[in-house]
Amino acid sequence: MMMMMSACWRSSSTSAKLLQFLLLPLFLVSVYVSLVRPPRSSPVSVDVWPSGLPLRWSKDSAAAPEAPPPFLIITPSQSPSPSPSPVDDIASKDGGVDLVDKNFTAHAPSMSNSHGLPAPEVRIKEYTSLERLEAGLRRARSVIRQARDGNRTQDQDYVPVGPMYWNAVAFHRSYLEMEKTFKVFVYDEGDPPVFHSGPCKSIYSMEGNFIHMMEVNTQFRTNDPKRAHVFFLPFSVAMLVQYVYIRNSHDFGPIKRTVVDYIDVLSRKYPYWNRSSGLDHFMLACHDWGPETSTAVQNLYKNSIRVLCNANTSEGFNPSKDVSFPEINLLTGSTHGLLGGPSPSRRPILAFFAGGLHGPIRPILLQHWENKDDDMKVYKYLPKGMSYYDMLRKTRYCLCPSGYEVASPRVVEAIYTGCVPVLISDHYVAPFSDVLNWRSFSVEVPVSEIPNLKRILEGISSRQYIRMQRRVALIRRHFEVNWPPKRYDVFHMILHSVWLRRLNVKVG
Ligand SMILES: *[C@@H]1O[C@H](CO)[C@@H](O)[C@H](O)[C@H]1NC(C)=O
Ligand SMILES: *[C@@H]1O[C@H](CO)[C@@H](O)[C@H](O)[C@H]1NC(C)=O
Ligand SMILES: *[C@@H]1O[C@H](CO)[C@@H](O)[C@H](O)[C@H]1NC(C)=O
Ligand SMILES: *[C@@H]1O[C@H](CO)[C@@H](O)[C@H](O)[C@H]1NC(C)=O
Repeated sequence: MMMMMSACWRSSSTSAKLLQFLLLPLFLVSVYVSLVRPPRSSPVSVDVWPSGLPLRWSKDSAAAPEAPPPFLIITPSQSPSPSPSPVDDIASKDGGVDLVDKNFTAHAPSMSNSHGLPAPEVRIKEYTSLERLEAGLRRARSVIRQARDGNRTQDQDYVPVGPMYWNAVAFHRSYLEMEKTFKVFVYDEGDPPVFHSGPCKSIYSMEGNFIHMMEVNTQFRTNDPKRAHVFFLPFSVAMLVQYVYIRNSHDFGPIKRTVVDYIDVLSRKYPYWNRSSGLDHFMLACHDWGPETSTAVQNLYKNSIRVLCNANTSEGFNPSKDVSFPEINLLTGSTHGLLGGPSPSRRPILAFFAGGLHGPIRPILLQHWENKDDDMKVYKYLPKGMSYYDMLRKTRYCLCPSGYEVASPRVVEAIYTGCVPVLISDHYVAPFSDVLNWRSFSVEVPVSEIPNLKRILEGISSRQYIRMQRRVALIRRHFEVNWPPKRYDVFHMILHSVWLRRLNVKVG
């Protein structure tokens, strides 16, 4: 199994940097000073959606968000902070955690000292490891809430700044809390290639990449399930489709039975699935069939954190519980040669798209723009002799219409090459939109506005374009795939999305 597990890993050269990951959080925590409220510093526009999800381009976006905002999605500092959760019984008011070891007797802090009386001896409740974990999460929540209005924290690698973030300071604090606290238990059961393995190339590459990165991780992975905040179900839907599905059978049965059996085994062998009804478990899928696969077990669909490329809110994707997984088409298994592109002045083409007529949206795009306008380079498949990546680098706005599923690898391709992505989709939740304000570096166009596409793009001033283009370059790090992973890269951002979802629920 170890051999299989290192399949993606082999493409990397060194793992020396891992040590750095282990030491940094300690350093950072000691640097963070206090939470006194300064004047607000992050200039976030006021017209943002308080749920932390980006607004759509359309004016008729009065349509309500499809899910109520979870209380810890990282929103701009202008939004009122949510009232503290009623379950803050262990964490003290200032966010400190008053946990003590079993059998420990202590003086209750400042209980009656102001009256000069001796503090009474108080027998402190015995806490289970789960209560401890929950208390740690409550402390982290409290620290992150306070950071919304606080000063920036030092960070030798990167300090998130700018309008690309709903609230850069809160995100930074949350990220550092994750590094300090977060532990993931990966179930050992199951054999490759369906379990503990996944594709490292192709548009499903993030399945394999994440699974492998998680399995070899030493910072976040714990072998002690008692210390885990979340439990990872390490199956690959792309592998289930390849090895378990009977080709052309149109029968989901074998795939679903595999998942049912897997969770059945885990829920008999360990107490954790039953304990939370799956709330603190997560699965991932980039394959289109991810959402359908997750319906095999009701609690997996309903309760667990589903990390899905196919983040279609009309198909049950719930942004407050589920995580939008970036789809990254790694043809060679690495991003080598894909990153970077010229400045705005060296991008003569207004808009570009080339691709198959997959799904319901692209035919509409082609119908309106194929061979219609010299500024709109819209092709059904790439014309002979044209280089796809050259075109991305020569273009100001890269069109990313949904295909068979809502996510498109074009979004990350655009970000890699410094082309401002134009998201043309309905019901899509973009990756990391709990943290990133997509409107600041991309254009979102609902399908109904496709006929007005050119007018919309030309209506963006060149000053605004230059700002967006610069921001695309700045947030690129959050989408980069590194071996081994680097802080703030795509692996860590996905993990951070899971961390945020876990902070929002209480187990036990
Ligand atoms: C926050 O920043 C301000 C201005 O730089 C500084 O005066 C203040 O002491 C800082 N507060 C904390 C808690 O670090
Ligand atoms: C608590 O103390 C009792 C008696 O001293 C001992 O038997 C027990 O093992 C202790 N429990 C723990 C969790 O340390
Ligand atoms: C979890 O619940 C299932 C179904 O009720 C049961 O079969 C299983 O034994 C339980 N697991 C544990 C560890 O108790
Ligand atoms: C999203 O889900 C809805 C409802 O099932 C479906 O009609 C639509 O085609 C989906 N979008 C894409 C791009 O797959």
